[in-house]
Amino acid sequence: MMRKIFVTFLAIFTIMSCYSNETLTSPDGEVKLQVYLKQGVPYYQVSFKDSPVIKPSKLGLKLKDDSGFMDGFTLGQVTRSTFDHTWEPVWGEESEIRNHYNEMAVTLNQESKDRHIVVRFRVFDDGVGFRYEFPNQKNLNYFVVTDECTEFAMTGDHTAFWIPGDYDTQEYDYIESKLSEIGKESKLLHYDNASMTRFSDTGVQTALLMKTDAGLYITLHEAALLDYSCMNLNLNEENLTFTSWLTPDVLGNKCYLQTDCVSPWRTILVTDNGADLLESRMTLNLNEPCAIEDTSWIKPVKYMGVWWEMITGKSSWAYTDLPNVKIGETDFTKTKNNGRHAANNENVKRYIDFASKYGFDQLLVEGWNVGWEDWFGHSKDYVFDFLTPYPDFDPQELQKYAKDKDMKLMMHHETSGSARNYERHMDKAYQFMVDNGYNSVKSGYVGNIIPRGEYHYGQWMVNHYQYAIEKAAEYHIMVNAHEAVRPTGICRTYPNLIGNEAARGTEYQAFGGSKPHHVTILPFTRLNGGPMDYTPGIFNMDLSSFAPNSSKVNSTLANQLALFITMYSPLQMAADMPEHYEKYIDAFQFIVDVPVEWAESKYLLAEPGDYIVIARKDKNSNNWFVGGVNDENPRTVDFDLDFLEDGKKYTATIYADSKDAHYAENPESYVITTKKVTSKSDLKIMMASGGGFAISIIETPAK
Ligand code: NOJ
Ligand code: CA
Repeated sequence: MMRKIFVTFLAIFTIMSCYSNETLTSPDGEVKLQVYLKQGVPYYQVSFKDSPVIKPSKLGLKLKDDSGFMDGFTLGQVTRSTFDHTWEPVWGEESEIRNHYNEMAVTLNQESKDRHIVVRFRVFDDGVGFRYEFPNQKNLNYFVVTDECTEFAMTGDHTAFWIPGDYDTQEYDYIESKLSEIGKESKLLHYDNASMTRFSDTGVQTALLMKTDAGLYITLHEAALLDYSCMNLNLNEENLTFTSWLTPDVLGNKCYLQTDCVSPWRTILVTDNGADLLESRMTLNLNEPCAIEDTSWIKPVKYMGVWWEMITGKSSWAYTDLPNVKIGETDFTKTKNNGRHAANNENVKRYIDFASKYGFDQLLVEGWNVGWEDWFGHSKDYVFDFLTPYPDFDPQELQKYAKDKDMKLMMHHETSGSARNYERHMDKAYQFMVDNGYNSVKSGYVGNIIPRGEYHYGQWMVNHYQYAIEKAAEYHIMVNAHEAVRPTGICRTYPNLIGNEAARGTEYQAFGGSKPHHVTILPFTRLNGGPMDYTPGIFNMDLSSFAPNSSKVNSTLANQLALFITMYSPLQMAADMPEHYEKYIDAFQFIVDVPVEWAESKYLLAEPGDYIVIARKDKNSNNWFVGGVNDENPRTVDFDLDFLEDGKKYTATIYADSKDAHYAENPESYVITTKKVTSKSDLKIMMASGGGFAISIIETPAK
């Protein structure tokens, strides 16, 4: 098999030498890119440590009412440069990030049309990014992209970790299969989500992770998705080649562009171990530097929420059980309260009392504003006004109550998919937040997008999400958007985008459950483009007492603690209810201690679909925190603590699965042990099925 691949490649390289061939290597020389034209069609290919990663693959775009940018090219100017700069993120997994690459900008002339495009390539030590650029010119001004036809030709039948291509939702469980099995597996998927719009049995979403038989890890994704539609990938099962598949609008058009403009970066990450993939910052580096001058108001947030009780069915977002209400027409002071409305003053104060006692920064309150009686799945243009509280929720009083306890409330704007309605209200909604002491908002886009015909991941909505982020920045508001497009590193440029959902989060543990391996894949895929508001920290795994048909959380309690480390986010929620934390208050101590600002991160063990162990150093002390998550197969992991400072002494508190813990049978069973450790120590820890562990390593003060 290997011999066959080798011979094939020898042949390809020999053919290639007949064409003018531009080569670019990474700073360390291990990643190699070749670009060339064959009969006027642009091709590229990529290798890593002399092994092919991307076979010869075409570049090109189809345009409406135009022969497009598919062929007829001649090679124009080729310029090269090198970039090496270290920058400090406002928040992140480390306090400094090095951006080091070699660049090549290739001009492609289309002489018959007297016009040109540029393809800009950047080669890093861990991969390649490239984008199409459309300079302003006489014969290219306004144009409509009907298809982007960028190919990614795979070298073999790799193992892929994928979710089906969809224009509207990413809230799927991951499937691990050979590339050649994607179509078959996809057909078997029965999945019901209000927003689902699958387009092809062989379509997948990015970031797509693959592992080759030779042990290479490859991720295909995009960076800096701005004023363009989001890219899915469609696989040709015959030749194992992916082609970009952009999200259309209702007319089937993919993007409306006007020169000067650029496409997002198409990215190919490649490493020969899982840890290096987690360490990659290529996606962030391909985004522009921070566009916000004064970032002093952007701060990581640890929060709790009046939330899980609605998700589990214990309480309701709505104030009444009326089938229909209209903002401005229903007088809620005169309607009967359903007795289950969670966002009431007394309950909110109960959460504030608990959260402030344990040092949380904020409390999210959902269901505070009128409109929830009729919010779900209704294609109305007008659902919420984001201003009018239900009569039992007093924003001023509650913000004051929170402030007196050193906390803030977190705003919630569910739009029900009506982006136009949100845009119409946005200034007033953000001003309401400023006036009432809020500085962060969780927004949401459940349901079909209104206006009808737009998809969650089309260009129109990509522009909407960006508008919401930039406008929020004007008001010094931090944004955490749910159901929005998957992140592509935009948080480098707009660090007030402190969170996104854009994947299957903890809520699905209450909607049927997620597979235990889910959290061993997300850090490689979804988190590549930016943090996720995963909402970890569930301590009570049996949800049947809230809603009889509710599922069980497929995770041990120790696994839930580990997520505060393994699912990096500057926004971390302890998602369960105070009464469940009271029950296991010794384990809750880890959530109390764990910081949300990091100076450094070490990826100790990482195998997608199996396990991840990460250690992180607090930004404000010498303390370290370690988290490990496991799939359904119990295993023992062994690792050194050589990241600790030599000569210093520490106390490690280990929160681990007990011997008989199991995500389905015995999820809340854990053991807490303490141990003196130094940089010479090593640890051996058992992770149960669906389990994990968390460790706080606290420096012993010098005497
Ligand atoms: C879906 C979000 O993911 C969830 O967190 C939120 O509670 C509901 N929408 C209601 O907005
Ligand atoms: Ca969601």
